[in-house]
Amino acid sequence: SWHLGLFMHMPRMSRLEVLENTLIQVDALGSIVSLTRPDEPEYTERLHTARRSGALTEMSSQQMMIPGLVDLHVHAPQWPQLGKALHLPLQDWLNHYTFPLEARYQDIDFARQVYPSLVRALLANGTTTAMYFATVHEEATELLAATCLALGQRAYVGRVAMDDPQQCPDYYRDSDAQAAVAASERSIHAIRQLSGNQNQLVKPVITPRFIPSCTNDLLAGLGELAARHQCHVQTHCSESDWEHDYVLNRLGKTDTQALADFGLLNRHTVLAHSNFITDSDMGRIQEAGSGIAHCPLSNSYFADSVFPLRRALDKSLRVGLGTDIAGGHSASLFNTCQHAVASSRMLESGVDARLPAAERGQANARINFLEAFYLATAGGADVLDSPTGLFEPGRQFDALLLDLDCPENRLNEFTRANDWEDLLGCVVYNTQPCNIGRVWIDGRCVHG
Ligand code: GUN
Ligand code: FE
Repeated sequence: SWHLGLFMHMPRMSRLEVLENTLIQVDALGSIVSLTRPDEPEYTERLHTARRSGALTEMSSQQMMIPGLVDLHVHAPQWPQLGKALHLPLQDWLNHYTFPLEARYQDIDFARQVYPSLVRALLANGTTTAMYFATVHEEATELLAATCLALGQRAYVGRVAMDDPQQCPDYYRDSDAQAAVAASERSIHAIRQLSGNQNQLVKPVITPRFIPSCTNDLLAGLGELAARHQCHVQTHCSESDWEHDYVLNRLGKTDTQALADFGLLNRHTVLAHSNFITDSDMGRIQEAGSGIAHCPLSNSYFADSVFPLRRALDKSLRVGLGTDIAGGHSASLFNTCQHAVASSRMLESGVDARLPAAERGQANARINFLEAFYLATAGGADVLDSPTGLFEPGRQFDALLLDLDCPENRLNEFTRANDWEDLLGCVVYNTQPCNIGRVWIDGRCVHG
């Protein structure tokens, strides 16, 4: 198929590329074959071929395309409690709301009600890739993976491993480390072998919930599993004061050091939050090539801190964004971009207006909307080593068609044509689901 019109993407964090009247050709496997700009000699002939093929989608002057959005941290089972009880401390929220809710996925019919609704909502918000925590249940975890596959979403799905009776309730945990490792291993096989998953659109993830919920035996066992299966790993890392201190007390080291020692810090690891990582933690993460899921909205509620994003970027850590549903109360990565920008500004300006300006906050902490947009697209794809996030030959076509002039929400009413940065600003700050006309993943239209 062929697509013609205005494309915007960010090859680097500091570089917005605008492709006007550009022609993109996508093959049957969803791979971008060619990208042709009007000033190239092949343009006229290719446009001719595209028109004759009958498979050309031509954008109007009120439409544009951006790469699909990448959500690096979603708790799928927490979808029914979006926005609930966020005033509580993390531990109370987990014990009184989250664990009782997650335990209900023992009932596969409950999972059948929730998971399709979540995946459809994420697609409608433009999330083409999602990295999910499921629950401890193998059957419901497989159902989540099968749901993503059926609805065409690129996904990374992890059965949650948690066995420590000190921190997990008896009604919701693995019975012991050995049983947990065996269940996680079966889940890896089940997801890889799902029917229709020949291209591995959906991938398994080894998922120790966080260090407090796992015994040392479990963490060591999962580390071995990661090495054996060349599999992605995800967990919560140094999220809150309580959690960070708990690990220091129990193991005498930071989350990052502990994860490294258990074999859980590698090129395929995604660490959620990581608010309290030290400079030497950052060094280790950078060396290991692991990535970070920055979850600004949930950090506002549970972390009592802001992730030191600029410091991490300066040390060449790979970072993307996560909604952290339902620690974050929004399914939208556009929303998450807005909070990433706002929280970086607050980190820089500090909170105490009585202090002289020069003594408030952290210097140079801010990011702008373009940098946030990079994190939500190419940055997230880079963390996953996923061939998406940019319009480039060889990458897969994961894309959103935006309707700038949708009657319920006009995005560019007052923006001058050709003022591309301003237009993208309107998109990042104001896009609503009604503006997301169509969504493609692997070249397949999966929404609209
Ligand atoms: N730490 C352990 N489990 C969770 C969870 O479900 N959400 C958040 N935000 N932090 C966690
Ligand atoms: Fe989380």
